[in-house]
Amino acid sequence: MRSKITVVGSGFVGSTVAHYIAMHELGDVVLIDIAEGIPQGKALDMCEATPVDGWDVRVTGTNSYEDTANSDIVVITAGLPRKPGMTRDELLAVNMGIVKNVSEQIKKFSPNAIVIVVTNPLDAMVYTAWKVTGFPTNRVVGMAGVLDTARMRWFIADELKVSVEDVQAMVLGGHGDTMVPVTRLATVGGIPLHDLLSQEKIDAIVTRTQNGGAEIVNLLKMGSAYYAPAASVVAMVESILKDKKRILPCAAYLDGEYGVKGVFIGVPTLLGRNGVEKVMEVKFNDSEKAVFQKTVEHVVALTEEVKAKL
Ligand code: NAD
Ligand code: LAC
Repeated sequence: MRSKITVVGSGFVGSTVAHYIAMHELGDVVLIDIAEGIPQGKALDMCEATPVDGWDVRVTGTNSYEDTANSDIVVITAGLPRKPGMTRDELLAVNMGIVKNVSEQIKKFSPNAIVIVVTNPLDAMVYTAWKVTGFPTNRVVGMAGVLDTARMRWFIADELKVSVEDVQAMVLGGHGDTMVPVTRLATVGGIPLHDLLSQEKIDAIVTRTQNGGAEIVNLLKMGSAYYAPAASVVAMVESILKDKKRILPCAAYLDGEYGVKGVFIGVPTLLGRNGVEKVMEVKFNDSEKAVFQKTVEHVVALTEEVKAKL
């Protein structure tokens, strides 16, 4: 039997996620939105592409949660994207209401699903989805680290003019200005990045990675990034559905790991058929510990805002 993946929000990220899932034949997709006609139109358009490309999957567009029942995975992309000059955190009040409402429906119609949250501000929205669904922590996870890491990998590959395939990097922490690109652990074909690039060049890549979302927002002027975000979501969906047990940086619940308890934040996770099967711990040096502590403080403050509003 094919897996069933619901994507909530059929905007730029949601519809691109649905398209990538279909292209990878990961399962049947239900695209749901409050906007009438949009998920139906996009789903039909994707179905009409399947004979050309030979993908044996069905994409259904709907405004009704009945159609999402018993999904294996639900991806939440519903919510407003930021405008130029805005921070992700400024979206909290409005997007929290949306994620709360969506999470109530997920709990009702897909009580066994694994939920992947994309809506910003990411770490706070994952917490919201977890609280409202009441799902165990392994079944609620946020997408951000795969994207931030992909951006860093691209900047490194582009600087060195090498294949992206051979570049490994790790960006942890909250999905915002305080994110932590751990450059000490970045490698190119197994060679430490610090052996290949000057500190000045590495610092420039770190800053560009931290501003990666804003760079696209400023270029687009309307809306935010969606190709790389959608590809990142689909890497997580694939690792879960195929039980690949990939180690991907995701916003996961910390229960004492890294000395932190009670928040969702970006850390390396082992993603398999049970969702977040393990939080992997990195041994930080003192300066990494200090920057990680800063991002934790930021995410804790955002989480407190959610707790006060829920
Ligand atoms: P978009 O405006 O293109 O799409 C959002 C969609 O959500 C719209 O179609 C809207 O009708 C729908 N929607 C609103 N309320 C809804 C509800 N209650 N139920 C169902 N659907 C609802 O925006 P986008 O570019 O697709 O971005 C979506 C969200 O993802 C934003 O919050 C954005 O900031 C975030 N995002 C996060 C990351 C990340 O790394 N975590 C990356 C990219 C985008
Ligand atoms: C990004 C936003 C949308 O990083 O979170 O592109």
